[in-house]
Amino acid sequence: MTAPAPTPVVHRVSDLRAQVAAWRADGLRVALVPTMGALHQGHLTLVRHAFTRADRVVVSVFVNPIQFGPNEDFEAYPRTLEADRAALATVGASLVFAPAAAEMYPQGFATAVTVAGVSEGLCGGSRPGHFSGVATVVTKLLLQTLPDVACFGEKDYQQLQVIRRFVADLDIPVEIVGVPTVREDDGLARSSRNAYLTAEERGVAPTLHRTLQDTAQAIRSGAAVDAALEAGRRALLAAGFASVDYLELRAAEGLAPLAALDRPARLLVAARLGNTRLIDNIPVQGA
Ligand code: PAJ
Repeated sequence: MTAPAPTPVVHRVSDLRAQVAAWRADGLRVALVPTMGALHQGHLTLVRHAFTRADRVVVSVFVNPIQFGPNEDFEAYPRTLEADRAALATVGASLVFAPAAAEMYPQGFATAVTVAGVSEGLCGGSRPGHFSGVATVVTKLLLQTLPDVACFGEKDYQQLQVIRRFVADLDIPVEIVGVPTVREDDGLARSSRNAYLTAEERGVAPTLHRTLQDTAQAIRSGAAVDAALEAGRRALLAAGFASVDYLELRAAEGLAPLAALDRPARLLVAARLGNTRLIDNIPVQGA
């Protein structure tokens, strides 16, 4: 069997709008799946999910400079547009929107979307300005596409909460859908950044998910939350992680810090393995 033709790509907002308008004129529902490319099964699962909610799925591929800190991996981030288009064709994606940086942030661009509360702490603590960069670009992508629905992964749980917050606050008429994390067989959450791991680090990486599970189990069994989190941090360092940015129990809705498992909760972690920063999270329900 021959491979399907790569998913069509447009680079300009005007071409994106023209295509979406044509679909709308035909009465079709449109979904948006924002990505930074280097697509893997996690992203493709979002696209499949989007097709359960819409007739046409637009996938944006844009490595967004304003969500990277000065010492982060913006330059090194993998850019694989042709491979991404081929992968998207296998799940039937309708259109790729791959703007240049100057299309998104032309000379004189001066606006930011900043979300208080849910952006603070966790990744917002270790990556200052990151969520403002995410909120600004996702606001633009939503207004450029004007989809009926947009899909995001629970893999980036705080990001999903930030997006739900500003979409509600700014009355953006779109339904935000969260999709569960897609994992490797050994539990490691799929991530474009897994490509940075050496073979040895790749062997250690699944400890991140296992530690989340062990810590959640301890908390569910009645261990003191602080003690369970401390044991989890120690387990990560003992396994070979260089440092732990955070391991925290938060309310599943709104991300308030929790000292006890008194409502639906989420256990979230970020830790560094060599030069690579990995994140993960799982739900924790009380008994
Ligand atoms: P990126 O890291 O490329 O992720 C794009 C989308 O795929 C996000 O919604 C993310 O949560 C989801 N995703 C990544 N890995 C996943 C996995 N293993 N299982 C399920 N979903 C997964 O997140 C971003 O890009 C950017 O911040 C973006 C929202 C595009 C704004 O620039």
